Amino acid sequence: MRTTVLIVAAGSGSRLQAGVPKALVTLSDGHTMLEHCLDSVVAARDAGAIDLHAIAVVVPGDPDTATSLETVCHAFAARTAVTVQTVPGGAERADSVRAGLAAVRTLAGSAGSAGGPFGRHALLVHDAARPFVPPAVFGAVVTALESGTAAVVPAVEVVDTIKTVAGAGPEEVTGTLQRTQLRAVQTPQGFDLTSLEAAHRLAEEGAGGAAALTDDAMAMEAAGHRVSVVTGDPLGFKITTQLDLMLANALLASGTS
Ligand code: CTP
Ligand code: MG
Repeated sequence: MRTTVLIVAAGSGSRLQAGVPKALVTLSDGHTMLEHCLDSVVAARDAGAIDLHAIAVVVPGDPDTATSLETVCHAFAARTAVTVQTVPGGAERADSVRAGLAAVRTLAGSAGSAGGPFGRHALLVHDAARPFVPPAVFGAVVTALESGTAAVVPAVEVVDTIKTVAGAGPEEVTGTLQRTQLRAVQTPQGFDLTSLEAAHRLAEEGAGGAAALTDDAMAMEAAGHRVSVVTGDPLGFKITTQLDLMLANALLASGTS
């Protein structure tokens, strides 16, 4: 199944506090987080896990950052012969995904698929902040799409006990969720493009707007779609804090990634 990957890299990285936008943060091997993410996509292609058509990268609106990330994308495209298009993002992650969807539709249209612009064409939405996703996870997501599902997420089991809380000031526990029923959901998440566009439009109009969406499957759930789950990987973790960055650098130093 021809596959287009939408990488969202327009976040500021406020929790990482690295002094530069997160996708531009350099890991201990001298490569930026975005380079690692792009390399993981091409590794999935080279492993035969995905039939890669093109990549769209959503970058921050700030011209300096955008230029730096575009340079990374151009070098990657020259090195791998993959079509890469950059597009400016928005204030919230969901705004950035929406900006990317328009670029993806144009890119996918040139795939020349017999089933229409997006017939038999997979869309993967992926966080630039997850640099080490193994090819098998990309493959599992696309395989689920091939079986006809409109939405699929990779997920791992949760190790902590998760409780709900309420109250301003000192919080109180209002309940405990059954851990066996919980999953931590990663990216890449796979979708039917038309369904995801419609789901995002619906979510934009709903309570909370873009800020209420912490992933794209949420929009699909709200629109009434079934969302399939495939096995994720601990290496699909997201770099959010300095502790995550230390883990990423330790993995590189140990040759695990
Ligand atoms: N993202 C984006 N546009 C935004 C916000 C986030 O493209 N307006 C992207 C990030 O670049 C990242 C992914 O969404 O690859 C996951 O978001 P997150 O980990 O929250 O990154 P940031 O928003 O950059 O970090 P923070 O929330 O700590 O500011
Ligand atoms: Mg964020």
